[in-house]
Amino acid sequence: MKVLGIESSCDETGVALVETRAAGVPVLLAQALHTQIVMHQAYGGVVPELASRDHIRRVLPLAEQVLERAGVAKAELDVIAYTRGPGLAGALLVGSGVACALGAALGKPVLGVHHLEGHLLSPFLSADPPEFPFIALLVSGGHTQLMRVDGVGRYELLGETIDDAAGEAFDKSAKLLGLPYPGGPGLSRLAESGDPAAFKLPRPLLHSGDLDFSFAGLKTAVLTQAKKLGDELEARKADLAASTQAAIVDVLVKKSLAALDRSGLRRIVVAGGVGANRLLRSELNAACAKRGVRVHYPELDFCTDNGAMIAMAAAMRLQANVQAATAVYAFDVKPR
Ligand code: KG4
Ligand code: ZN
Repeated sequence: MKVLGIESSCDETGVALVETRAAGVPVLLAQALHTQIVMHQAYGGVVPELASRDHIRRVLPLAEQVLERAGVAKAELDVIAYTRGPGLAGALLVGSGVACALGAALGKPVLGVHHLEGHLLSPFLSADPPEFPFIALLVSGGHTQLMRVDGVGRYELLGETIDDAAGEAFDKSAKLLGLPYPGGPGLSRLAESGDPAAFKLPRPLLHSGDLDFSFAGLKTAVLTQAKKLGDELEARKADLAASTQAAIVDVLVKKSLAALDRSGLRRIVVAGGVGANRLLRSELNAACAKRGVRVHYPELDFCTDNGAMIAMAAAMRLQANVQAATAVYAFDVKPR
């Protein structure tokens, strides 16, 4: 079965083609991506209306590119999958609308995918995919969750953020330091030349006894510290960036270890944009190596939003019979 996947929930337009096999993990045949980051940078964040309009411009040429790269004709597609949510309503409607139009025109069924399930299953796009069951740490710009994953569609939420997401904490702190959007990668680059112990920043909920997170207080602490520094901020920016990153990573690693301990599982998957963070990877790798826990990450290209994870999640859901594709071509999106 050949499944075309379309991602358009935020500021990346992604399209990919995945093929299911009689046995084993579905295979990625081709993918293409356009990121709108430069377009939104002038505004310091994503402008929803601009995002929707750009998805409209990009999505069909990207789909043509993917089919050409894979050497597959439109008529050979079996299912068209798209991100149903969560995300920006207008942006989601572009992917859903195009998927439904393609489905209706080709007489092929469509399937709406949960964006976070795409992230969650993105490590299956790597050469060494994980085996179920595992703990998943989902850390994106909009979500921070710990889950127990027993199979496709078998997810138990163990804990999540009660306010800001980890990516949001990176982005908002970066903005306070005057770094361009999205701040995560920039803050982490700046942090490399700073001292992570320079400022004492809060680690909210670190000892709360549950698996929930809270990052709103950290952002406020960074703001307070930046104000206190005043004219000195410029010279101490790298130190403040390093201290901020250390606080976020510390909480993410400790709570992940707590989730592993509680579940007794020996495998963890890290997915979502913040999963690209180098400090998070090295700290988690070190802590897990000590405990004999295997850590799986998506390939760096598949940490942030992309079409391949949506095509993969759809293919895995179809293969596991947890969802059927339908010929109902409704513009069915779920922003929240
Ligand atoms: O998963 P994603 O592409 O989009 C959402 O679904 O939200 O995640 C984007 C988030 C942004 O907050 C971005 O700053 C963060 O991931 N991010 C990083 C890094 N690369 C991306 N945060 C920290 N370090 C990075 N290297
Ligand atoms: Zn995402």
